Amino acid sequence: MSTADDVGAGPGYTARELTVHRRPAELAKVTRALRATGRPITLVPTMGALHEGHLELIRAARKVPATVTVVSIFVNPLQFGPGEDLDRYPRSFESDVDLCREEGVELVLAPEPVDMYAPDHQIGLAAGSLGEELEGASRPGHFDGMLTVVAKLIGIVRPDLALFGEKDYQQLVLIRRMARDLNFDTRIQGVPIVRQHDGLALSSRNVYLSDAQRQAALGLSAAMAAGAHAGPAGPEAVLAAARSVLEAEPLVQVDYLELRDIDLGPVPESGEARLLVAAKVGDTRLLDNALVQLSA
Ligand code: PAF
Repeated sequence: MSTADDVGAGPGYTARELTVHRRPAELAKVTRALRATGRPITLVPTMGALHEGHLELIRAARKVPATVTVVSIFVNPLQFGPGEDLDRYPRSFESDVDLCREEGVELVLAPEPVDMYAPDHQIGLAAGSLGEELEGASRPGHFDGMLTVVAKLIGIVRPDLALFGEKDYQQLVLIRRMARDLNFDTRIQGVPIVRQHDGLALSSRNVYLSDAQRQAALGLSAAMAAGAHAGPAGPEAVLAAARSVLEAEPLVQVDYLELRDIDLGPVPESGEARLLVAAKVGDTRLLDNALVQLSA
């Protein structure tokens, strides 16, 4: 593996094999040089512990003709609240880099917190009222910290396109809003949830689940499927169908089950809506969501 120190990011520089950069300024120098050669840049922000869901984001990036794919691996302390799992969040840096290489990623940005945040940093983004609803109601400040790091990553890489998984649907909606409200010159694209054969949505936090908890966690995807199936019968039927599946799982402690419009505003009478659930299974907070087609 070459490292940042090997890289001479001169005007004619073209990255071919994977290079890992720790320092944001070095990566920015490389992407600036690559941009000058006319190649589009695609960013896949991650917190590492890469699984098949992340690999789908990378594969979607690699479909952009001639693109340079940049993956960031950074467990962002700003988006974890007190008592959350920052310290025990799964980390698998070496195998993450191997996976990136196998998937044809050219650049990895893997900073330490000290590389991203000056000791006296003070300025960050505010997610607004949507940042206080749904996930935000249980995780105060989470979306402010998440948007701040995504804005920083976009500022470093200056990608043409950035990809995010639909599993964190509220995150995706907020990032789209940020890009719109702050006139970012980066297109934000969602990638559908990747599920295991039995429906469980892939998440780095699934490793925390015992066998019994994993079995119970299938209630979330089953509830989403039941809700989506009930779409033609209207919003009340969608929620009732999803709720009855969740209530059958004593190990699943539901935080919220909500039906919203696709931008997370009030639920429409008809057309497309999004069903969202968050629940604790043991100590693990899990999310799932599904597109619901309500009656015309
Ligand atoms: O979804 C995640 O993994 C993180 O919230 C993100 C977008 C990489 C920001 O830290």
